[in-house]
Amino acid sequence: MKHILTLFELTTADIERIFAISKDLKAKLAQGIREPLLPGRVMAMIFEKQSLRTRVSFETGMAHLGGSSLFLGQDVGFGKRESAADFSQVLSQYVDVIVCRTNAHAKIEDLAKYATVPVINGLTDSAHPCQALTDLFTLEEVHGKLAGKRLAYVGDANNVAKSLAICCGKLGVEFAIAAPAKYQFDDAFLSELKREVPQAKLFQTTNPVEAVKGAIGVYTDVWVSMGQEAEEVERKKEFAAYQVNAALMKQAAANSIFLHCLPAHRGEEVTSDVIDNPQSAVIPQAGNRMHVQKGLLAWLLGAKV
Ligand code: CP
Ligand code: NVA
Repeated sequence: MKHILTLFELTTADIERIFAISKDLKAKLAQGIREPLLPGRVMAMIFEKQSLRTRVSFETGMAHLGGSSLFLGQDVGFGKRESAADFSQVLSQYVDVIVCRTNAHAKIEDLAKYATVPVINGLTDSAHPCQALTDLFTLEEVHGKLAGKRLAYVGDANNVAKSLAICCGKLGVEFAIAAPAKYQFDDAFLSELKREVPQAKLFQTTNPVEAVKGAIGVYTDVWVSMGQEAEEVERKKEFAAYQVNAALMKQAAANSIFLHCLPAHRGEEVTSDVIDNPQSAVIPQAGNRMHVQKGLLAWLLGAKV
């Protein structure tokens, strides 16, 4: 049994296998085929933060696979009503897989420690693994094999950026990140990345133009993530020079696509002319959340594929 908390848990071969299953399921759905690979399986969804994509894509994907899901809101009292050990062991007896979106990463680690079914991270303050899997899948759909290529990320070295750096490292993609010095990857993450993915190629700079040079994808995320609202004024000031606009996109490879995990703030981290341009892949990227999570669920729960 495997938990998916950071993507450090997956080998390159695992990711390639998940992508292959996802691609197959996506092609079948396009023909109207919804193979019931997980009949009767139940997925619990614990969400402590808002979500459109993660919640709906997981629930819909599980329905396509013949399983069902339970959305667990405040009333289950996750982290409040009882110990993590009791909560997790009890829930594991009812369901086959748990998806959890929470704040502190330690909270999902605790849940996973006591769970006897797989736990999937649906976003914490330091990781968004399902997002990164989808992003690399999307990039591969557009550009083919990715090894040796560069993905640029302009903005906060946040949960999304960390998961992207790990996924890129596993797939042989260089990850080039431009952020103000104060908002680059912390030392603890850098040491872990070096230890767990020694082959990872990471380029950190304060200069967005340096990061996007030769990149086949330019990615950004909000400057103020959920839970950081108190830092909004300072962050908006610090990141003002890190907007992805048409002039910056011109510095990337000619066939470069624009990616964003969404939700986006037009006029802040990205201009409308970039995100609403044909060069932008954000809508199919969001659509792929469902296809990739179906592949992940089928793989993780041992469906016959
Ligand atoms: N990208 C993403 O995780 O979106 P939601 O917050 O809407 O789930
Ligand atoms: N970094 C953002 C991602 C939202 C999908 C956040 O954590 O709010």
